[in-house]
Amino acid sequence: MILMISSTLMLLLVSTIFIITKILKARLSPNPHHAPPPLPPGSLGWPVIGETMELLRTGRDTNPEKFAMERVEKYGSQLFKTSVLGEKFIFFCGPAENKFLFSNENKMVISSWWPNSIKKLFKSCLINAVGDEARMIKRILMNCLNQEALKRYIGRMDSLTQHHISTQWHGKEEVKVYATVQLYTFELACSLFASIDDPAQLSRLSAEFDVFLKGVIALPFNMPGTRFYRATRAANVIRDELLLIARQRKVALDKEMVSSTQDLVSHMLVTKDASGRQLSEMEIVDNTLLLLFAGHDTTRSAITSVMKYLGELPEVYAKVLEEQTDIAKSKEPGELLKWEDIQKMRYSWNVVSEVLRLSPPVRGGFREAIADFTYAGYTIPKGWKVLITFSCSLRVHMRIVFDQSTSNIKPLYVAIDII
Ligand code: HEM
Repeated sequence: MILMISSTLMLLLVSTIFIITKILKARLSPNPHHAPPPLPPGSLGWPVIGETMELLRTGRDTNPEKFAMERVEKYGSQLFKTSVLGEKFIFFCGPAENKFLFSNENKMVISSWWPNSIKKLFKSCLINAVGDEARMIKRILMNCLNQEALKRYIGRMDSLTQHHISTQWHGKEEVKVYATVQLYTFELACSLFASIDDPAQLSRLSAEFDVFLKGVIALPFNMPGTRFYRATRAANVIRDELLLIARQRKVALDKEMVSSTQDLVSHMLVTKDASGRQLSEMEIVDNTLLLLFAGHDTTRSAITSVMKYLGELPEVYAKVLEEQTDIAKSKEPGELLKWEDIQKMRYSWNVVSEVLRLSPPVRGGFREAIADFTYAGYTIPKGWKVLITFSCSLRVHMRIVFDQSTSNIKPLYVAIDII
């Protein structure tokens, strides 16, 4: 009897262990039906450099979207994986993809990630700050760049523009627009940000800035012969000049010899946040460098594209000219533009907006995934970098709407009238 009970108990014990083991095994081993979706298609290229060289090469030729568009075609997917600038990336290429990323800011992706080359070149400025520090710097910069500040600078911008037209455009048979506009936007930025007006200093800084720009998006190898190395040296030269300006300005402000709203440097020197914290000398220098970069190259590209489209579209040009001529006629001789005049430029503004849409000066935005998420059946792993591709999205959009080939996009200038 005892033998029977113990053998029954034994049997029960063995079968319980068997069932528990089965359950645990089922829980721990991956279920093929519940496996996470795959990564987007694509290639991570070579070790360390990934596909960076290809990205940079196509970025420098006349078709900067080539890198992304080729992969969209090849993989038949609006997103693809790659490895560039020392990071694993997912490129998002399409209007729906952009909308998804923009509406999930701080939920699935954050915008405070920048490539190492940018972080190292810009040092102690807004893009390297986080949390409260970033908010404080942003508030100070916005204070210096808000509508009131813009209103104050309109006359100065007009006067600089007139001077540029009379020295660089008048009487010339031919003008190379991109190079000339670079000079113009650089002079404008240097004057408004740091009151640099001396032609010798401007041309010295402009040459350094050109070297600097070429290394901003690069592999951050600080070795002689690389673009990044040359950019770092150029940034230091510009920094030294800006530091000198900031120190001299501080003395002039203390002696009340200059206005605190004279330019961005003055603004930054006098502005405090709610807790009384001010930007340090080096923060002022680094943020001025950031704004020179963010403000001048984008504007140069925008103005050049506006001129290109106006040259191609005489009927649009005629309407812009008419609007501008009407405003010019309403002014006294020598009277500079005012805020009210800018508000009358409705048609010109629509043209600029449409050009920015068709040829965005900034081709993409950097993000970082802050959680694993799924999009279009693919997994985007936490920590991977994400690129929002503004210009590719336009191409994809145009193709969806008009079924046009990527290289033959006609401007939608008809839409300008109805914006
Ligand atoms: C046509 C002219 C311009 C275009 C198309 C443009 C476009 C952009 C874009 C696309 C971004 C990144 C947004 C993102 O990743 O979500 C950006 C950021 C920025 N832009 Fe501009 N921009 C222009 C002019 C300017 C000017 C004139 C300034 C300053 C004077 C400026 C200062 C900045 C700054 C400081 C940031 C970084 C903001 C941050 O990290 O919070 N931009 N701009």
